[in-house]
Amino acid sequence: MSSQPSLRPGTDADASAVARIWHAGWRDGHLGSVPDELLPDRDEASFIERAPLRVADTTVLEVDGEVAGFIMLLGDEADQVYLDAKHRGSGLAALLLAEAERQIAAAGHDVAWLAVVAGNARARRFYERSGWTDAGLFSYKAETRGGTFDVPCHRYEKALR
Ligand SMILES: CC(C)(COP(=O)(O)OP(=O)(O)OC[C@H]1O[C@@H](n2cnc3c(N)ncnc32)[C@H](O)[C@@H]1OP(=O)(O)O)[C@@H](O)C(=O)NCCC(=O)NCCS
Repeated sequence: MSSQPSLRPGTDADASAVARIWHAGWRDGHLGSVPDELLPDRDEASFIERAPLRVADTTVLEVDGEVAGFIMLLGDEADQVYLDAKHRGSGLAALLLAEAERQIAAAGHDVAWLAVVAGNARARRFYERSGWTDAGLFSYKAETRGGTFDVPCHRYEKALR
């Protein structure tokens, strides 16, 4: 019998599962939609390096004792929202996004935002269905090993109160 999905703060022990979901999901959402120059920086090692550094702002979704997805927050930004491919289309992503909104509101912010590349149609549809609105294109400063890299993105926002 499968257990109820549950949300909990990330721990050091989650870093490898988070890195695996992050790396595969980044490719699913971004290949063909970001400048090719960014690709060498987004190799598997980069996610293995970054996941442990982000444990403090990571919340994981657990299903049957395994990490099924995660969010990472930066202030009022839902910086990362990732669900393992095997769980997509199940409704579980809504739990992750609702938790991001809850934590951002609890930290005192009135509006949450996130960046999504134009070509990530699945994520954009999911955000729009969840009540987020497209506030237009801007240049997102993606962190890389060599500094920041400008990536054209849509800014999505949601009023929290
Ligand atoms: C973004 C993500 C968390 C959404 O979770 P999900 O379980 O896939 O979302 P859902 O299936 O509930 O919703 C996706 C919607 O897009 C639709 N969709 C699926 N594939 C699509 C495609 N290729 N183009 C457009 N819409 C698509 C689905 O039908 C659904 O819409 P509907 O509810 O109106 O039918 C998940 O896809 C993911 O982790 N993706 C990879 C990582 C990523 O891109 N993260 C976001 C970075 S900003």
